[in-house]
Amino acid sequence: MLPSYLGKPSGQETGDYMALDFGGTNVRVLLVRLKGKEGYEIISQKSLPLRDPLAGYDLTSPVATAEELFDFLAVQLGSLVSPGRIYPLGHTFSFPSLQSDLNSARLITWTKEIKTHSVEGQDINQLLFEALRRQKLHHIIQPKVILNDTVATLVAASFEDPLTYVGSICGTGHNTCYLEPKFSRANSPMIINIESGNFDQLPFTPFDELLTRATAKPFEQRLEKMVSGSYIGEIVRLIVSQLIEQGLLFAASKIGSSSPWLRPYAINARSLSPILADNTPELTGVDEWLVTCGNPESSLEERKTIRSIASLVTTRSARLVAATYIGIVRHLDALAIFQHNIAIDGSLYEKLPGYAQNIALALREAGLADQVTARLYKNGSGIGAAIAAAIDSKPID
Ligand code: BGC
Repeated sequence: MLPSYLGKPSGQETGDYMALDFGGTNVRVLLVRLKGKEGYEIISQKSLPLRDPLAGYDLTSPVATAEELFDFLAVQLGSLVSPGRIYPLGHTFSFPSLQSDLNSARLITWTKEIKTHSVEGQDINQLLFEALRRQKLHHIIQPKVILNDTVATLVAASFEDPLTYVGSICGTGHNTCYLEPKFSRANSPMIINIESGNFDQLPFTPFDELLTRATAKPFEQRLEKMVSGSYIGEIVRLIVSQLIEQGLLFAASKIGSSSPWLRPYAINARSLSPILADNTPELTGVDEWLVTCGNPESSLEERKTIRSIASLVTTRSARLVAATYIGIVRHLDALAIFQHNIAIDGSLYEKLPGYAQNIALALREAGLADQVTARLYKNGSGIGAAIAAAIDSKPID
């Protein structure tokens, strides 16, 4: 339950702002023009991966330092500036961070398998400011606000639709935030980042235990490790590899040592899409996919097994996520009288066949079909940072 020091925007925010979106896979920098009721326009943007084996760098590895990482961010920001202007910046930082005000956040712990050295426990804004100073950009780029990606998604979605009270990410990582109507002694509304990926009062399977033991932070982020894009492909792989080992699936003699079933994290969430989308009687899509996994001669029974494992793991993910939404809605509105919109961003919700439908079904089963609408809201991380910067500052001169 981490306070954001932010409420919802008025929807009247205008002007040009800079945004930095740092989520763990890519870094995106943007210049955004806010136009109040007429929405917004992205004036320019740039995105770069944090690890690029071909270019020979990995800023997420334990040998990469805070200085290297934040210099990289500052250089990307610098690539968008023009001479003679001042840029107020909103910074979306998508990791559990303890804020003491709008613009200072200490990283509690890395998640999503990021391991960059000497960042945990540090004030992120300070690290960014020092990097901007090293790049001689500190007089030009002025960090105004730091926020979680769920918070940015809620801010951006509610800029357009004031009935949005919950923001969530179902992608590489998972987490949700909501607007607490009367926060603390001030009794004013504040968005709370609930870091739901760290919930751990859950019914774990032996595969969840196996998975968490082999992660960078064993026994942390338990819900995230059951539901998010970084991990669900690996859960499928762990189940299948155990069935192979027990002689229950694919003749072990036909599994070569380079088979993806034997290589940790060789199956990712994206590769589950063709399996889940295959409704042909012979499961030809699953067959084609298995050929790429080194299983050229699967039986229909084996293909059905693979499909049902992928479906069980992804359905469990969607239903656990829906359970967290139901918890929030019940907390806000025990009698379920009001309308609540949940804005969700992330590749699982957007792209995984059946995922969004499973969330909607679970909400319906909880009797909330009429009161709760879950909908895709894309790119909130970048836009929300610009809007948040606008709440607290003057636009670019
Ligand atoms: C982080 C959250 C973040 C989520 C989605 C999780 O690993 O702990 O802060 O919101 O990923 O990016």
